[in-house]
Amino acid sequence: MNIPTQRLSSSHHLALIGRIAGRHNSHLLLLEVKVVTTERAKHFYNAQEIPVTLYGDEDEWQLWKGRSDPVLHIELRRWADLMVVAPLDANTLAKVASGICDNLLTCVIRAWDLSKPLLFCPAMNTAMWEHPITAQQVEQLKGFGYTEIPCVVKKLVCGDEGRGAMAEVWTILERVKRILEELDVPRQS
Ligand SMILES: Cc1cc2nc3c(=O)[nH]c(=O)nc-3n(C[C@H](O)[C@H](O)[C@H](O)COP(=O)(O)O)c2cc1C
Repeated sequence: MNIPTQRLSSSHHLALIGRIAGRHNSHLLLLEVKVVTTERAKHFYNAQEIPVTLYGDEDEWQLWKGRSDPVLHIELRRWADLMVVAPLDANTLAKVASGICDNLLTCVIRAWDLSKPLLFCPAMNTAMWEHPITAQQVEQLKGFGYTEIPCVVKKLVCGDEGRGAMAEVWTILERVKRILEELDVPRQS
């Protein structure tokens, strides 16, 4: 699985969606990965350094000109077998918990097939994490059937130390690998 893990740890508000392209045997899985970004997230990484297809809000609106054109968020939810929102910031957490879908990322999530895995990795300042609304919203997402990869205690970008940092990338990858191994999709070769 070739996920840009270095970028994952240092960027914000991205989602990776993956599709199983094939399976050589029980240990070797071929995975295609695409990245969905929010506009704010673009501030935190260099798009040139993302080695896979990257979609943002502009792509959604450029692709659709008339009735026969594909709708990107629906194409992506059909295409993918699994979605990982890493990190999931407080803003997008709140939107997802209440069903708001005002950008490409939240539209893909709102249209997500609930029989497919969706993992989310919250990340925010400790004060935001400790606000009582956060626990309610995380529970709401788990109630939808999504899987939380809990945040950890760390020195945060803002200088504060406490809970709110995104889980370590290896923790996320291990969890994704385990879920993918259990997935049974018809395309297996
Ligand atoms: C430098 C910087 C770092 C930020 N880091 C986070 C963060 O780790 N978690 C979070 O919930 N919000 C963070 N924010 C606030 C979000 O960027 C803000 O809520 C934004 O509207 C999120 O938009 P999005 O959810 O569409 O990506 C940060 C803001 C700035 C300026």
